[in-house]
Amino acid sequence: MIDYENLLIIGSGGREHALGWKISKNQRVKKIYYADGNGGTYENIQILPTDIRKLAEFAKHKKCYTIVGPEIPLSLGIVDLFDYEGIPIFGPTKDASNLETSKKYSKNFMIENFIPTAEFQTFNDSSKAMDYVNKLDYNVVVKADGLASGKGVFVTNNKQEAFEAIDILLNTRTFGESSKEIIIEKRITGEEVSIIAISDGKSFIILEPCKDHKRIFDNDRGPNTGGMGSYSPVPNITSEEINQFSKKIFEPTINGMIKNGSPFKGFLYAGLLLEEETRKPFVLEYNVRMGDPECQPLMMRMESDLLEYIIAAGNQSIDSMKPIEWKDKYSVCVVMASKGYPGRFEIGYEIKGLEKTDKEDLTIFHAGTKLNNFNKLITNGGRVLDVTSLGNTIKEAAIKSYNNVKKISWGNNQEHYRKDIANNLI
Ligand code: GLY
Repeated sequence: MIDYENLLIIGSGGREHALGWKISKNQRVKKIYYADGNGGTYENIQILPTDIRKLAEFAKHKKCYTIVGPEIPLSLGIVDLFDYEGIPIFGPTKDASNLETSKKYSKNFMIENFIPTAEFQTFNDSSKAMDYVNKLDYNVVVKADGLASGKGVFVTNNKQEAFEAIDILLNTRTFGESSKEIIIEKRITGEEVSIIAISDGKSFIILEPCKDHKRIFDNDRGPNTGGMGSYSPVPNITSEEINQFSKKIFEPTINGMIKNGSPFKGFLYAGLLLEEETRKPFVLEYNVRMGDPECQPLMMRMESDLLEYIIAAGNQSIDSMKPIEWKDKYSVCVVMASKGYPGRFEIGYEIKGLEKTDKEDLTIFHAGTKLNNFNKLITNGGRVLDVTSLGNTIKEAAIKSYNNVKKISWGNNQEHYRKDIANNLI
């Protein structure tokens, strides 16, 4: 019998802080441990998300229910290990995680299950890949097959850019084993939206739509990052479109995974592209976990008790749950990053100004932060803080986030943030 008094959240980013912040509102939760957490989470344990055996020992010893944030422990089989040991955990198995860990697997899966996705080819030889691109009369997206922290995707505007992306991925091996094989797919233009569902393996509930901003610089310029900001809801996504995502994408995905012998239990994230003229949805990618920074505005807006939905999904009874309730407000998250991210950056700067930030309708989720030996909060990663607001309009929410971003600094112009999060709607 699981009592859900002790929880273990695996990960150390803004997503994990936001999940814990929301789940801590459930009355039956007494203690949340984070492995290995950050400067904003309490209580942190010094076990890395990759050390799945130690995590299993800890969760067993402390009688924890475990929720997995990032994809790496999932790809290492943490859920399989916990299941084998009889330790309760929420997330997909290693096989089910292939939807994210191998783009080749996920593209073939979509073709087999008639799920709309851009046409593609896979390559492990750069000259064959370049010959292929040379013959095409459209632009392409070049992707590493394996995990690359959101940075192994190159959206190219011409053949030269595509050749460069192929060279980086297959020849320079910047991404190591992750890019020993690549996907080249047709670039479709349109609106991107992140749709996340919570699934119990046979049924699912879709969360409200969300949008993230992946490029490092304003106006979607520069390299891809893990995400520089997000907002929810996405005003121009209609309820008919959400029904269509459910029928055409999530149902066949969940059913296809059952057919493959790997039922999907966990957060299932579909990165969708709505084609410019038709608004037909195409799946750009699956993630087998909550989005980061999509999670932050979703948690700010969710009225219902997330833990109850996770428990229901864990017990294969998600279809017995009422629809999730949401605050009738907008939420905007602005990510403050270390200057230089997603390339080289420095850490260890003291973060100042948090005490001046608003206390209402604003939460600052921590990502790359830690407390140093003198109990001072310092920068400790690429994405540092996620300044997340609520507002009656998207403009009100964006203004609130930016007013608060301006109160925070870590000196010498070492902060970087995009100035245009949700700007397209203001
Ligand atoms: N925001 C994109 C991701 O979580 O991968």
